[in-house]
Amino acid sequence: MKLISLLFILFGLNKGYAQVNIVPLPASMQLGKGTYILKSPLKILYSNTLTKGHGGVEIFKAHLLKEYGIKSIENDNSHNVNNATTIYITVVNSDTTNQYELSVNKKGILIKGNANGIFYAFETLKQILGKTKTGQLEVPHLLIKDIPRFAYRGMHLDVSRHFFTIPQVKKYIDYLATYKYNTFHWHLTDDQGWRIEIKQYPNLTTKGAYRDRTLIGRFGSNIYDTIPYGGFYTQAEIKEIVQYATERYIQVIPEIEMPGHSLAALASYPYLGCTKGEYKVMDTWGVFDDVLCAGNDSTFTFLQNVLAEIMPLFTSQYIHIGGDECPKKRWEDCNKCQDRMKTYNLKDEHALQSYFIQRIEKYVNSQGKSIIGWDEILEGGLAPNATVMSWRGEAGGIEAAKQAHHVIMTPGSHCYLDHSQSMQEDSVTIGNYLPVEKLYNYEPIPTVLTATQAKCIIGAQGNVWTEYIANQSKLEYMIFPRMIALSEVLWTPKDKRNWESFKARLPNVFERLSHENINYSKAYYELKASILPSKNFDGVYLQLQNNEPTSDIRYISAADDSKSNYYTKPILLKAINYQITAWVNALPSEAKTKPIKQDIFINKATGKKITLAVPPSERYPGEGAFTLVNGIHNTSGLAKRVEMLGFAGTDVEAIIDLKNITSINEVKLHLFIKKDSWIYAPKADKITVLISDDGINFFTPAQNTHIALQANQAVATTLFTQPNANIKARYIKITAKNFGKIPEGMPGQGSLSWLFVHEIGVN
Ligand code: ACM
Ligand code: ZN
Repeated sequence: MKLISLLFILFGLNKGYAQVNIVPLPASMQLGKGTYILKSPLKILYSNTLTKGHGGVEIFKAHLLKEYGIKSIENDNSHNVNNATTIYITVVNSDTTNQYELSVNKKGILIKGNANGIFYAFETLKQILGKTKTGQLEVPHLLIKDIPRFAYRGMHLDVSRHFFTIPQVKKYIDYLATYKYNTFHWHLTDDQGWRIEIKQYPNLTTKGAYRDRTLIGRFGSNIYDTIPYGGFYTQAEIKEIVQYATERYIQVIPEIEMPGHSLAALASYPYLGCTKGEYKVMDTWGVFDDVLCAGNDSTFTFLQNVLAEIMPLFTSQYIHIGGDECPKKRWEDCNKCQDRMKTYNLKDEHALQSYFIQRIEKYVNSQGKSIIGWDEILEGGLAPNATVMSWRGEAGGIEAAKQAHHVIMTPGSHCYLDHSQSMQEDSVTIGNYLPVEKLYNYEPIPTVLTATQAKCIIGAQGNVWTEYIANQSKLEYMIFPRMIALSEVLWTPKDKRNWESFKARLPNVFERLSHENINYSKAYYELKASILPSKNFDGVYLQLQNNEPTSDIRYISAADDSKSNYYTKPILLKAINYQITAWVNALPSEAKTKPIKQDIFINKATGKKITLAVPPSERYPGEGAFTLVNGIHNTSGLAKRVEMLGFAGTDVEAIIDLKNITSINEVKLHLFIKKDSWIYAPKADKITVLISDDGINFFTPAQNTHIALQANQAVATTLFTQPNANIKARYIKITAKNFGKIPEGMPGQGSLSWLFVHEIGVN
C-alpha cells in the first residue's frame, strides 16, 4: 500500500477525521488534533471589504442554513450575538491568484485569500464540515494552504444534441463549483440544433432550434423516435447563467461552431451554404458534408452579426469558434469558394479553412476578445492569436505549444466523458472506454515539451457530448465520478496526485453524491475480467479484479459443472470453451453491481505466440498482437476497442507459432466490418494462409484451401474448413490485404479503408 493512503487511513481512524476527504486534494494540508464546534448563529467577520465579488459568502451561508439549520451573520457587530462562533476572513486584495489559506484551531476558523481564494476556501470547508454523534457541527483542526495547478479547469456541455434547461445548467455549474472548476464551455450550436437567441436572425431559433426526430439506436443504426425535439435560450437566460456562473468564479465560454457542424444555421438561412440545399436540422449524428460557404461574403457578415450579439452577453475573454470536422467536399465543388482560393492565392481547401478562421479571429480580436478552436484550426496555418483545444489526441496541442500558442488539452482518449466507463454498459453510449482510473492518471503536460513550451498548456477539460445523454439522470451518470477525478488532475500538484489516495476518499465522495441524490456511476466497483497470456503459451489466464480489494470474488464456469468457486488467483483456461459468470459477494448495497459474463473460445491458436509484420494503428492498438489469440470475440464493435486491432490502410500479416506440429482443419479470421465508419473486409482473393514447420519457409498447403467470406461478414471469415484436411504444420501465416480505396458513393470515398480484426481461430 502506498504511504499516502496508509496515512489517510491512520488519520481517518485515529481521531474521527473520516470527514477530511477533500477533492480535489489541496496542495498542502496538516491535520491537528481537536475539532472546532460551529454553533448558530455564526459570525462571519471580514478584515475589510472585498473589492471584487463576494467570495461566495451568500452561497456558503445558504448551504449552512439548508444543510445544518445554522444561521450566520456576516460582518455585523451591532447585534449582541450570544455564543456566536466565528469565521474570520482576511481579505487579500489581489487578482493574481486563486490561492487560499484555511486554518481551523481552537480560536476559530481563519480564511485568507482574494475573492476567488475565499470562494475555494468555503468549498473546502463545505467538504469537511460534519456532524458529531451528538448532532453538533464540527470542523477538524487543520491548516490548508492551497493553490490550483492549472489556470484553465474546464467542463464542456453540448446542449445541441440534447437540450438542458436553465435550472439544469445551473445545477451543472454547481457541480463545477464544488470541484473548483473555473470554466464552463457551453457548446451552443451544432448540426442538430441552434440554441441561442439571435435577435437579428430569428429563424435560428424558430427553425434552427428544432428537429423532426432523433436517432435513438446506436450510432450507425437506423432507429429513430418520432418526436419533434428542440429548445433554446433567450439572451436574458444566457445572461442569467453568466451571472450565476460568475458568482461561482466560473467563466462561461460560448461555442458557436463554424464552418462545419452548421446545419442548424444552414436550415435557418440556406444562403449560407455552397449549394441551394435542401438543408435540415439533423436528426442523426456524425460529420456532414454541408458546411458554411467560405467564398460568400454574406457568410462572414452573418457570423459577425451573430458574434456581435453574442459577445456582450459573456464576460469571458474567449469565444470558441469550433473549427473541427469540416469536410471540404462542398468547397471543392463551389465556384465562390474556388474563386476565393484564387483571389487569396490559397493552395488548397485547408488553406481556405485557415482563411476562414483567421478572418473570424481578426473580427473577434477587433472586439477585444480571443478565439479558441479545436485542433483542426492548425491545418492550413494557425490563426495568430488562437488558443487550441487538442481533442484528436495530443498531437495538435503539442504542435500548437511548439508554435507558442496557448493549449487546452481535451484528448478523446482521456477527456471524453461521453465514452463508456463500464465494460458492461447497458445504456447506449458513443466512443471508447474511459474508466475513472484512466482519467485520474491523465497528465496534461506531454513529456516531449520543453519547460517553456509546457507553460503553453494552460489546462484541460472534460467534454460532454450529448448524443446519448438525453436527460439529467444520464448526465449525472456520465460525469460522476469522472469529473471529480479530472478536478484533481487540474487542481492538485502533480507529485501529490495519487490514485490510491483518491480511492481512499472515493467512498466518502459517493456518500456525498448520494446525499445530493446524484445518479453517479458505480462502474468503479465493478469486477473486471482480463485475459492474460501464459508464459509457456499453453492457454490463457483469466484474471478477475475490482478496485476495492476483496477476498470474496466468486465465479461459475459453465464448463465446470456450474458450481460456484472462490476466486483466489488467475485461472488457467485451456482445451475447452468457457462461459464465466463472476461477481463480488457481500458488497454493501450502494456498491452492488451486476455479475459479469465472459465467453472464452479456446482453440489451437489461443494463447500461442503471435507476431505481426506491421503493427496496428496507434488509434486502435487493442492489447497488442495477443488480442488476436486471447479467446475473446468482440461482439460490441467499437464500444470495446480493447478487444480488436485496427489497421489504417495497411495489411494484416500474422504468424502464429502453434508450439508443436499440429493438425489443422480450419482457420478463422474474425473481422469487424462497418462500412459507414470506413471499415471494410479484405477482398476474398486478398486473404491467404501459408504453413511452415520452421517459421522461415512458408508454403501453400497442399490441400485445396477454400476461402469463404460469409454473408454476415462482421462475424467471421472462414479461410478454409475441411474437417478431414489434417494439414500438418507448426506455424501459420495469415495475410489479409486491406480492401484499398473506398468506392465512390460510400462514406469516406477515395480514402483508404480500415481493416479490423478481433480474433484468429485455428481448429
Ligand atoms: C469534437 O469532438 N468534434 C471536437
Ligand atoms: Zn462555397
